[in-house]
Amino acid sequence: MEMKTKTMISTILISVLLSILLPVRTDYVRPQPRKTLHFPWNPKHPSVPQQVHVSLAGENHIRISWVTDDKSAPSIVEYGMSPGQYNFLSQGETTSYKYLFYRSGKIHHTVIGPLEHDTVYFYRCGGQGPEFQFKTPPGQFPVTFAVAGDLGQTGWTKSTLNHIEKCKYDVHLLPGDLSYADCMQHRWDTFGELVQPLASARPWMVTQGNHEKEKIPFFTDAFASYNARWKMPFEESKSTSNLYYSFEVAGVHVVMLGSYTDYDELSDQYSWLKADLSKVDRKKTPWLVVLFHVPWYNSNHAHQGEGDGMMMAMEPLFYAAGVDLVLTGHVHAYERSKRVNKGKSDPCGAVHITIGDGGNREGLAQKYVHPKPEWSVFREASFGHGELKIVNSTHAFWSWHRNDDDEPMRSDQVWITSLIGSECLAE
Ligand SMILES: *[C@@H]1O[C@H](CO)[C@@H](O)[C@H](O)[C@H]1NC(C)=O
Repeated sequence: MEMKTKTMISTILISVLLSILLPVRTDYVRPQPRKTLHFPWNPKHPSVPQQVHVSLAGENHIRISWVTDDKSAPSIVEYGMSPGQYNFLSQGETTSYKYLFYRSGKIHHTVIGPLEHDTVYFYRCGGQGPEFQFKTPPGQFPVTFAVAGDLGQTGWTKSTLNHIEKCKYDVHLLPGDLSYADCMQHRWDTFGELVQPLASARPWMVTQGNHEKEKIPFFTDAFASYNARWKMPFEESKSTSNLYYSFEVAGVHVVMLGSYTDYDELSDQYSWLKADLSKVDRKKTPWLVVLFHVPWYNSNHAHQGEGDGMMMAMEPLFYAAGVDLVLTGHVHAYERSKRVNKGKSDPCGAVHITIGDGGNREGLAQKYVHPKPEWSVFREASFGHGELKIVNSTHAFWSWHRNDDDEPMRSDQVWITSLIGSECLAE
């Protein structure tokens, strides 16, 4: 008893002393980076589907991707609208790749559809294994996107994914840096397993970052693993490269670009972007959103100026097309701009949001440029995720949720109005 009282008194004394000696604390204590997750070796039967994820694949179609160790496992997906009742079947394609001594499993990509909007489908891959389910996005507003970049596979990644799982959303958008495998190919497999619970249930639309660039000169291509595993609807959007493509969901046209592939005026990416933007019908898709990895508007010291080249080349196309919102990653922090163009605020430019704070092992980027640029509205170095709810053709609600002690705290929020109906889009 006596010992306990003594301990209590000394604890109180120490905390009183500390509160006198230490400078005044702000109410938010920034968390430390968390360790890379440990994945116990969990052997499965070679033909059991692993790393299941789904993505949008053209109007009313979904691509289902998975990996099997068994090279002869079939690429069929059986699906239907009630559990265990698979009235439909689709046959897909397969690929695989080698990376030095690593041999990937068989990677299956099977497109299914046509599917109904806003409907839950039950499915099974390769004719066996567990049943999965996903919900298709709605055909009209409202539509909600979850957004998180620079995910990696740490304790913070897990925290971010848990928060996203709790939010009601239709499609996940990822502006680059997925697994942080960084040439350790088995880490692509563990990442696939880590995200499967979410990525098998909602379409995950991704673009690549620097951590997908695993080039070893003379041995491997830059995006070999990424392209084999995360096939996106580039053919469906008339692109010749998996590194840039577009898709439409509800009333939103979303363009995914590559920060690490040529973007100058003579490049294929530039010509494709120009053609894609010219086809956007703002009556059908009043909202125009673009994602890529390296931010153009960034007032963090990390990666300062890295996006300038791409911005010089492509911002005029964005401005002419009336892009509403740009989502990027790369900088491990969160920042939101006003509508901007040519480095300063402009009511006809896009809102730029950097959200490279999904939870990777490199930790946060905490040093900012001072004074804060005129165009920067909100900036904070914390892990978290974003939610973009497009309510109707003119209004969208954006919120950023930081992983504050494992509870998602809504820390920044704003109503964004689209350029539709403004003078900016006048012909
Ligand atoms: C769009 O949503 C906003 C926010 O809820 C609302 O104020 C506005 O009236 C809506 N516009 C239309 C055309 O329904």
